[in-house]
Amino acid sequence: MVVADTTAFLVGLGVGKLVDSVVRMRIRVTATALTTSLFWAAAVQRKSPFQRKDAAALLNEGLPISIAIPRVKSSKALAALAAVSSDQYDSDALPNPEVITRLNAMFALPLERLQVIVKQIISDMKTGLERDGGAIKMLPSFVTKRPSGREHGSYLAIDFGGTNLRVCELVLNGHSSEPQLLQSKFQISDNVKTGSGAALFDFIAECVRSFFQTHHALDAHDWNSKRWQLGFTFSFPVDQISIKAGTLITWTKGFTATNVIDRDSVRLLEDAFERMNLNIEVTALVNDTTGTLISHAFQNPDTYAGVILGTGSNCAYVEKFANITKFRGPPPPPGTTEMLINMEWGGFDDAQVVIPRTKYDLLLDRNTPTPGCYTFEQLISGMYIGEIVRLVILDLARTGDVFAKATIVARSPLHKQYGFETSYMSRIERDHSFDLADVKALLEDDEFEIVGATLADRKIIKAVCEMVGLRSARLAAAGVCAVVTKMNKLNGCTVGIDGSLFEKYPHYPNRMRDAMREILGISSENISLEQAKDGSGQGAGLIAALAAEAAAAAV
Ligand code: GLC
Repeated sequence: MVVADTTAFLVGLGVGKLVDSVVRMRIRVTATALTTSLFWAAAVQRKSPFQRKDAAALLNEGLPISIAIPRVKSSKALAALAAVSSDQYDSDALPNPEVITRLNAMFALPLERLQVIVKQIISDMKTGLERDGGAIKMLPSFVTKRPSGREHGSYLAIDFGGTNLRVCELVLNGHSSEPQLLQSKFQISDNVKTGSGAALFDFIAECVRSFFQTHHALDAHDWNSKRWQLGFTFSFPVDQISIKAGTLITWTKGFTATNVIDRDSVRLLEDAFERMNLNIEVTALVNDTTGTLISHAFQNPDTYAGVILGTGSNCAYVEKFANITKFRGPPPPPGTTEMLINMEWGGFDDAQVVIPRTKYDLLLDRNTPTPGCYTFEQLISGMYIGEIVRLVILDLARTGDVFAKATIVARSPLHKQYGFETSYMSRIERDHSFDLADVKALLEDDEFEIVGATLADRKIIKAVCEMVGLRSARLAAAGVCAVVTKMNKLNGCTVGIDGSLFEKYPHYPNRMRDAMREILGISSENISLEQAKDGSGQGAGLIAALAAEAAAAAV
């Protein structure tokens, strides 16, 4: 028996997947423990959530592993001969491998499953273009052009629908100079989200007034004498009947404000402007995905899709107008060949037949204001994945698989719905120290008031974050693969992506790219995923400019 103490040896043998799966536990590989070997081989077959790149990160952790390597011909054979002596883990320093294996099996999304998901998304996209009421709504946006770079003028924009509201003023100078953007940001309180619709729209109008007071304090008389044109990004499923009118189909992301569903969102906002004496006309109603697509296309004309991976998750893309057979709005301008579609992919697989769900996913869904709605979004987006981790941790604590020797004070946010924010997952995944020192600080001092957590506890918590974070990235990647395949753009295009997951969550973009490589093979190299920062505000301004151009052309 040869004993090696480094993961690099296994990586060198081309057994990254095995390393991925086993690196968090002390393992002993023996040529004799055949029964356990077969069990382990099956676990490896299901594919681990740890990607090759994480193995490199794990190397930095210098986790102690003892590996006895028998003489084997291939990594598969090696996997088949590996055995985990689960009774030999050190309960203070090393997580129980059985717990990790069990969770892994719940959260893993192997390639075969991703392929089924991609196929189903494409099929639902086609159905959604033909008729209303499909699993993916496929809402026509009435945006029929991408920007040329020649746009001119000064436009207001509101970006509403996530954690914050932004009011922007966008000044476009055609090709002569860069667009200028002024903006103010406001936090949206729970009262606004769940109160009355009138109060919600009054809050938005109040933010616009405050924007003027901040940025136009010196010309207080002027700003209200001019009639402003405004692009309104309202990031919810809206059934548009024109570029500047549409009714909310359902609230998402925990909003429940009353008397908004089935009413024209533009009318409600303009009424609030009137109540506040603001001289503003809404000339474009926009989803954040279409805004992101348009603003990214302004910089990079090769952009054909806009994706949000933030509080919620969704995608808009460029569809051939002829394919939108359900379209029933006023006829678009002559010569129209394409229209942006707001997919609302958050509602994919609400019937829960394609994606395996864990008991934690089901519990999370049951406790939302709209159970059974937007369950794909729940597996992906920032609003929910921290909550999934919280539910897993509480369950493991109940069974004694984590925090067996620790105390969680009653007021700990761990006991509160949505108390484990997705930003904590980022922080935990970013900790590559040997003893997970920052995870310790987070759990003990900074937030959770958990006394007596062991290193093994911290490693389990980190592994749970990795599994849930990785599943999110792989599902988002499946969505992007479906969209580029449906558009027939496997030969090359850019996808603009906005939102904190893509921007801030460690490894997220790479995990997406890895999954896309698995699904699309070499063609994935042609698809460029690019960060589109704060695109939806600027995008709404640009869409207002495009709407103004179209209106002028129609006169
Ligand atoms: C939710 C909304 C959708 C939005 C997404 C991202 O899924 O329904 O319209 O684009 O969140 O904000």
